[in-house]
Amino acid sequence: MTMTEPPLATAEATARLDALLRPPRVVSGITPSGSLTLGNYLGALRRFVDGQTSQQGFFFIADLHATTTEHDPARLRELTLETAGLFFAAGLDARYSTVFVQSHVPAHVELAYLLESTAYVGELSRMIQFKEKGGRPRTRASLFTYPCLMAADILLYETQTVPVGGDQDQHVELCRDVAQRFNREYADTFVVPRLDKAALAARVADLLLPTSKMSKSAPPAAPGVVRMLDSPDTIRRKIARAVTDSRAQVRYDPVTQPGLSNLLDIIAAITHQSPHHVATGFSSYADVKRSCTDHVVEMLVPVQRRYAELARDRGHLVSLLDTGAAEARATAAPVLTRARDAMGLV
Ligand code: AMP
Ligand code: TRP
Repeated sequence: MTMTEPPLATAEATARLDALLRPPRVVSGITPSGSLTLGNYLGALRRFVDGQTSQQGFFFIADLHATTTEHDPARLRELTLETAGLFFAAGLDARYSTVFVQSHVPAHVELAYLLESTAYVGELSRMIQFKEKGGRPRTRASLFTYPCLMAADILLYETQTVPVGGDQDQHVELCRDVAQRFNREYADTFVVPRLDKAALAARVADLLLPTSKMSKSAPPAAPGVVRMLDSPDTIRRKIARAVTDSRAQVRYDPVTQPGLSNLLDIIAAITHQSPHHVATGFSSYADVKRSCTDHVVEMLVPVQRRYAELARDRGHLVSLLDTGAAEARATAAPVLTRARDAMGLV
């Protein structure tokens, strides 16, 4: 041992101290299974941007998650770059955050396999997403194991919190269970992360089906889905046609007035107010729709302008993603090594 190399125990202690002293680690991903929606922006992407200067963020385009159901390779390629462009256009800044494409960091797949040997069939079968879309003979095996890949996405970065919209609780809970089981059965390897669910707009609803989530995998022209790249005219038209009700009373009540309440939720999230308070400012549904449109357009137009600039220089976008992937690989490598060691892989 030389003077410059501390003994192993000290090195580990130093690593732990470093982990305590650095800004909190945050990880989240978005699957490129469609053009991003207003729901993705309010529930996830905008929140990544808001926290980035006080946290160490790892944000990725979850392309491997887009192959769990039938997909078109050419469209996946396009959507991966579009989603990456929107991450930067929304304000993620490579000086603060590591932005990358999931499949550029092979450690995700490798750790996912190790976690498949930690997770149980019983718990994977209970995932709502699997129960809804899976269970048929031609269901892709990856749809079943997907939560192990998502757990790997999170655990590789010694993540403290996972900012997501309202539909990911079960997956993050499974990730915590798997991390704790691994730590208990093998060796203390993973930081156990915590869910950070959006307080407002956790579940933006489809404008025409206000009891369903606004989903990016709806057909591209779905009239109830506002996309981040929709023109102001399209946004105006979609919100003008949003389903409300015949009570003609502006109140925030998601159970009896889900369509109206969805519009109030959107305004509330954009203006950082409570939806009950927002409701008191209007006397007609037309006013609510007009205000909702104005807020959405005003919020998205600058993002669209930056996106258009980025889209003109794909080479630059690709080089930003290359840098992000290199940083992510370097951060993930020691954690993967620890997991391999703990499991007895020589
Ligand atoms: P996904 O669209 O399922 O890939 O989700 C990517 C991120 O966006 C996750 O954090 C979701 O929780 C969030 N998200 C997706 N759809 C919505 C929605 N309609 N409202 C709020 N958050 C959403
Ligand atoms: N499963 C998430 C979704 O479909 C996306 C995702 C993949 C993710 N890996 C993640 C989110 C890790 C948070 C952390 O919405």
